[in-house]
Amino acid sequence: MNQNEVEFNGFPRVRLRRLRRTTAIRDLLQETRLSVKDLVCPIFIQEGIDEPKEIELMPGIFRIPLKNLVKNIQELYDLGVKTFLIFGIPKSKNDKATSAYRIDGIVQKSVKTLRQNFGEKIVTVTDVCLCQYTSHGHCGIIKNNVANNDESLKVLAKIATSHAEAGTDFVAPSAMMDGQVKKIRKALDNNNFNNVGIIGYSAKLSSNLYTPFRDASHSTPEFGDRKSYQMPFHNTNEALHEIMMDVKEGADIIMIKPALPYLDLIYKTRQATLLPVCAYSVSGEYSIVKAAALEGWVNEDEVVMEFTTCIKRAGADIIISYHARKIAEILNNP
Ligand code: PBG
Ligand code: ZN
Repeated sequence: MNQNEVEFNGFPRVRLRRLRRTTAIRDLLQETRLSVKDLVCPIFIQEGIDEPKEIELMPGIFRIPLKNLVKNIQELYDLGVKTFLIFGIPKSKNDKATSAYRIDGIVQKSVKTLRQNFGEKIVTVTDVCLCQYTSHGHCGIIKNNVANNDESLKVLAKIATSHAEAGTDFVAPSAMMDGQVKKIRKALDNNNFNNVGIIGYSAKLSSNLYTPFRDASHSTPEFGDRKSYQMPFHNTNEALHEIMMDVKEGADIIMIKPALPYLDLIYKTRQATLLPVCAYSVSGEYSIVKAAALEGWVNEDEVVMEFTTCIKRAGADIIISYHARKIAEILNNP
């Protein structure tokens, strides 16, 4: 480029600051716009409690009894949040996770209640895993001290089918067993639930940021860890391979989890597939921001808006966030 074009009297002719001069101009040109419609709010429903119980490691987030569910969802709905990821905390656990697929299980009852009260006005997504329901806290059936892949698949298929029977829109298998999407798709189709979609927790990295969730949902493994099924956080190709497999197996939406330290994977997934991409901003992401905010070290509202917008900018179409209520409140009162 001719230097005369970029300079005038020795000063820059091109001035990017022109487009940043006023709030109105900045608003006009903002490239990434977060909307309440992007948000999914996780909900913890616990069997056998009477009052909401605040989660110790996630101040501001509660496990709620079924009787509070409709009121809770209505409040979020009134703020514009219409999609919910349902986690159940059952009263009883065993080594076969049978409480996960009982017709009167906590998730099944919750979904039924939501369908009765909200019909098609909301979207329900149910987490399909064993860890809250197994006595040992692992995401699969244990055989010879490891989570056995193919035995676990059978149970995952039963759980997904029972959620579909209750009326869920989507099931989200999170156990990271090989072939889980295929197995579940088949089970749903065989039972005439071809309208029920699957959100694959496709690249679920073995992250240290799940600790608050495990406290919240009583699903800390009693022995060992989840490293033989959740994938190493160091690997990009492996994440893309997981995603490719889930697409082939019939996933309708692809999920990356966690979100914030994994923006590169969100971006690459956005490039690699035409399916909607969902990012899960996990419990540890919430707790880190919350803790700093409670100390007065950061402005929670501003940090949350920045982090969530950046997750969208990286390529996420849908964002699961424990800050969903706060984000909705901020978006409604800019
Ligand atoms: C269970 C499950 C976990 C999360 C979602 N589903 C925890 C885990 O794998 O240990 C994590 C969610 C969060 O940290 O917010 N399979
Ligand atoms: Zn699990």
